Amino acid sequence: MKFDITSTEKITHSSDIIILAIDDKNNLINGNGINEVDESLVKKSLKKDVLGNSEGDTNILNDSTGSRQYLLVRVSDLKSVNIKRLGKIFNKTFTHLSKLSFKTVQMCLCKFAGTEVAVEEVVKLYVRASLHNFYKINAVKSKKATQAVVKNIIHLNSKYLKEAKQGLKLGQAIGEGSNLTKDLGNLPPNYCTPTYLGSVAKKIAKDNKMKVKVLGKAEINKLKMGSFLSVARGSREEPKFIVLEHMKGNKSQKPIVLVGKGITFDAGGISLKPGLNMDEMKWDMGGAATVLGVMHTVGKLNLPLNIVALVPSCENLPDGLAVKPGDVVTSMSGQTIEILNTDAEGRLILCDALTYAERYKPDAVIDVATLTGACVIALGHEASAVYSNIDSLASELINAGEKANDRAWHMPLWDEYQPLLDSNFADMANIGGRAAGSITAACFLSRFATKYNWAHLDIAGTAWISGGKAKGSTGRPVNLLSEFLLSRLKSK
Ligand code: BES
Ligand code: MN
Ligand code: ZN
Repeated sequence: MKFDITSTEKITHSSDIIILAIDDKNNLINGNGINEVDESLVKKSLKKDVLGNSEGDTNILNDSTGSRQYLLVRVSDLKSVNIKRLGKIFNKTFTHLSKLSFKTVQMCLCKFAGTEVAVEEVVKLYVRASLHNFYKINAVKSKKATQAVVKNIIHLNSKYLKEAKQGLKLGQAIGEGSNLTKDLGNLPPNYCTPTYLGSVAKKIAKDNKMKVKVLGKAEINKLKMGSFLSVARGSREEPKFIVLEHMKGNKSQKPIVLVGKGITFDAGGISLKPGLNMDEMKWDMGGAATVLGVMHTVGKLNLPLNIVALVPSCENLPDGLAVKPGDVVTSMSGQTIEILNTDAEGRLILCDALTYAERYKPDAVIDVATLTGACVIALGHEASAVYSNIDSLASELINAGEKANDRAWHMPLWDEYQPLLDSNFADMANIGGRAAGSITAACFLSRFATKYNWAHLDIAGTAWISGGKAKGSTGRPVNLLSEFLLSRLKSK
């Protein structure tokens, strides 16, 4: 999809669809000056209740000439519109449009300037919503769905052009990053292997002049990542440890390290999962996909920050060589772990990556993981869980999530939960029992993140939609993390 921002308030390009915002008194919000719009036709039809009264309700109206259509969208009170409402309005608009077939769409956003939301944000939300809703799952279909919209034109008063262009740039980079994350998640697990994730990291590095290393089994062994390797033992796919470095900040600036769980299929190992919906465990690399999506965004924007992505990646399968309940393994940190349940494998691969992260003397380390079913029970599919050893970092992430319409919620990481991980035989067990399952998983990780500021995002409930027509990756929390990095940039 190509985007264009034009300074004229008049829509003069020939277009298939013009988006018209309608207020709660049935007035045309962005009609003024659009000379192609047949206002009397629109007004006449609105009298016939063609549009629902809830914000974001949409309907298609045919122009009398038959050459053009209007997409009406309800916007209640424009002056008080905020990021959350605007996100919903644009999402509903483009959900509707994604079901139609046409070449050009345009919208005048003039009247959206001067509201509570800055023009840059308005355009960013518009572009993000377009890319998000026009996303198609295509990779392994013999008949590919074609892109419905070729051109998407935004009209704004010329004095807002600079801000608008910046919004477009950000929206495009973030939207593309999030769609890359969806692509990786939606790819079947026989395609999306640890080796494949490594090749994607190499491509991102090449396209954006980043440094990349994809370590294989022998090199991972040399690093003494005994915990990570114990999970990989049950699979014939070679594990990979991906290191992707975007060092475009000041030399003295400490890097932000992003760590993504890259289990490309989680059958549970010897503690085998039940069969129902097991296919969904192909999304257990959602953290890795997020981190790679964010690196794409960061690269496209060439952010002057130092950012490192680490991805431990392997499969978790049952096998004669697989790790067993009762086995004790030694992590890269030297701490020993009694594996009581081989299905709690995410923490086992992440802990070694967290130890590896120490070498960067990082400003902050943020890991992202589809870590626990318990997180889905606690927060459902609305919010990602945030844990941190420093409250200010948790707040930063939560604020970024609010700004990005990609919400997260602060969970407790109190010392009182730590004894649930006590083991008779090793330094710790890899599970803490049924109670507080998402919290004890975070407690486990915290023991490997003692040397720096750290946050953990449990995205088990937010990374994909299970079942039904919408089944698939959501691309979350790329929006949250991109916004977090942009806010870091502003504070520099
Ligand atoms: N990948 C799963 C977590 C998961 C479950 C994500 C359901 C999304 C939906 C993780 O590896 C896992 O299996 N966790 C176990 C931990 C338990 C054995 C302590 C779980 O949540 O059941
Ligand atoms: Mn598991
Ligand atoms: Zn898992």
